Amino acid sequence: MCGIVGYTGKKQAAPILLEGLSKLEYRGYDSAGVAVRNNKGKHEIVKTNGKLSVLSDKLKKGKALKGTCGIGHTRWATHGMPSEVNAHPHSNDDQTIVAVHNGIIENYVELKEKLTSKGYTFYSETDTEIATKLVDYYYKKWKSPLEAMVSFTLRVRGSYAIAVMFEDYPEEIYIARKDSPLIVGVADEGSFVASDVPAILKYTRNVYYVDNMEIARIEKGKATFYNVDRKVIEKQPVKIDWDADAAEKGGYKYYMLKEIREQPRAVTDTLNSLIKDGKIDLSEAGLSDEKLSSFKRIRIAACGSAYHVGMVAKYVIEDLARIPVDVDVASEFRYRSPVYGENELVVVISQSGETADSLEALRGAKAAGVATLAIVNVLGSAIAREADNVIYTKAGPEISVATTKAYSAQLIVSYALAVQLALINGKIDEDRYAQLIDEMLALPASMEKILSDDEWLKWFASKIANKKDVYFIGRGIDYAICLEGSLKLKEISYIHSDAYAAGELKHGHISLIEEGTLVIGLITQMRLAEKAVSNLSEVKTRGAQIMSVTLEGNYSLQEHSEFTFYVPKTEAYFTTSLAVIPLQLLSYYVCVAKGLDVDMPRNLAKCVSVE
Ligand code: AGP
Repeated sequence: MCGIVGYTGKKQAAPILLEGLSKLEYRGYDSAGVAVRNNKGKHEIVKTNGKLSVLSDKLKKGKALKGTCGIGHTRWATHGMPSEVNAHPHSNDDQTIVAVHNGIIENYVELKEKLTSKGYTFYSETDTEIATKLVDYYYKKWKSPLEAMVSFTLRVRGSYAIAVMFEDYPEEIYIARKDSPLIVGVADEGSFVASDVPAILKYTRNVYYVDNMEIARIEKGKATFYNVDRKVIEKQPVKIDWDADAAEKGGYKYYMLKEIREQPRAVTDTLNSLIKDGKIDLSEAGLSDEKLSSFKRIRIAACGSAYHVGMVAKYVIEDLARIPVDVDVASEFRYRSPVYGENELVVVISQSGETADSLEALRGAKAAGVATLAIVNVLGSAIAREADNVIYTKAGPEISVATTKAYSAQLIVSYALAVQLALINGKIDEDRYAQLIDEMLALPASMEKILSDDEWLKWFASKIANKKDVYFIGRGIDYAICLEGSLKLKEISYIHSDAYAAGELKHGHISLIEEGTLVIGLITQMRLAEKAVSNLSEVKTRGAQIMSVTLEGNYSLQEHSEFTFYVPKTEAYFTTSLAVIPLQLLSYYVCVAKGLDVDMPRNLAKCVSVE
């Protein structure tokens, strides 16, 4: 996620901006920049690609830029590759207006067309440059920064936290916010704006949280808040009692819990990037319906949790679109000798976009002349750059080694691919298409409902924290969910765990069951429920302790299970997005109960870029 810092006061701004941005590095970024109003009343903009240290060196730790009012930004690329030209701040042509932005402007295409028709020229690939020039357009129209910000707020769709400096209004910063966080602090040293608390905690613990559709004028020693009716709003500051480290996690003890709870937002942003006016639109990835309809077979290669997404994708695509799908772990795929037919597509799924095995699997497919598609979270990463086509998940940077929000965002892309393939292959009609899209759009609300009800999971986690073995069983998509649940538990709690297709138990695995063995049953695929329940009975009669995850309304498991977690009903194809959440939370709470380091589990790295 991008980071914003703004300052106006009696001290030099550039060093304060650099220090504030360094406190936001945890949000992940790929370029950075600052703009300061210099002693001649002009805006000076300095931007660099890469880490903050590059910018700091260029600015001689801020000494090279004089002025007491400025804005700074670390960019997590969403529109346009990581580069100096795409880095923020952006400005109008004469730099009389400069801005930094965090979020996604959804109607940027329409706005760019409008501004181009008014004579504006664009030099970057970013939605932020469009936003900045929209502010300029309205400022030229109204001759008032406040009016320009109000018009911007009413005109833009999407999410934004934006900070703007106007040359005609020295030592002032104007901000507006919708869905992307923005806070304000007023201290003796001056007034501050930031994306998150760590950037300003050194100067003040009294923080104003800017709410949606609010605008503010930030001046030395004061901040004035307005609603879109230009009425002044009286806001009370919130006292921050976090320590500096905790604040970097938004008050969470570990990034993993923060990212688990960010999943509805990650899913919403990914859905918004794929669904336009009620239709799935993959054209930005270069996948026209004509191109999609040409594929007669899909092969998926990925590692770890991304492989588990591929397992779900197999069930959903084959059942909906009636296209054969093979799924391999990339480290096996790259050494196999697949026998490719005509019109095949190899899909590589990767959060980091740098996993060595997945990258080599991609290269092998390309060498064989097969069309390739990457589903990646990091813009401009190796896998994204080398694939023929790429669909980006919009999960934002994921810090914790155990993936959660990126996994959930990858699921959404898989569903969208399956539904679009089903439509263009004539396997579903427009009504069913619309119904499936509606169900996808309803997922974030159901996820929020699950996230608000985790007390029981915390209780159950404390009961099972000392288990030696935990097995997950399920059928169909439930088996794919088991794979992810088992990996989450073992990778952060170090408890031995495995996932089995429930129908396979009697072929050997059931010998592992003894008195007290914990078996977690996934039962969200109701057409397979009867068989799955009988598998649970098989292990229960052999002494297993049972936990179940099933749909609200399915109370048939009560007699088998010591603990049952219910998730809201949704399309059978999409239950993974809901049922995985209690498993993520259970793993998290078990790990915390064991006093282990949730975010950096032993032996593991966030990105396995070596073989
Ligand atoms: C999952 O929690 C692990 N972090 C790991 O299995 C991960 O999914 C795997 O290494 C693949 O990483 P990627 O998505 O960045 O390629």
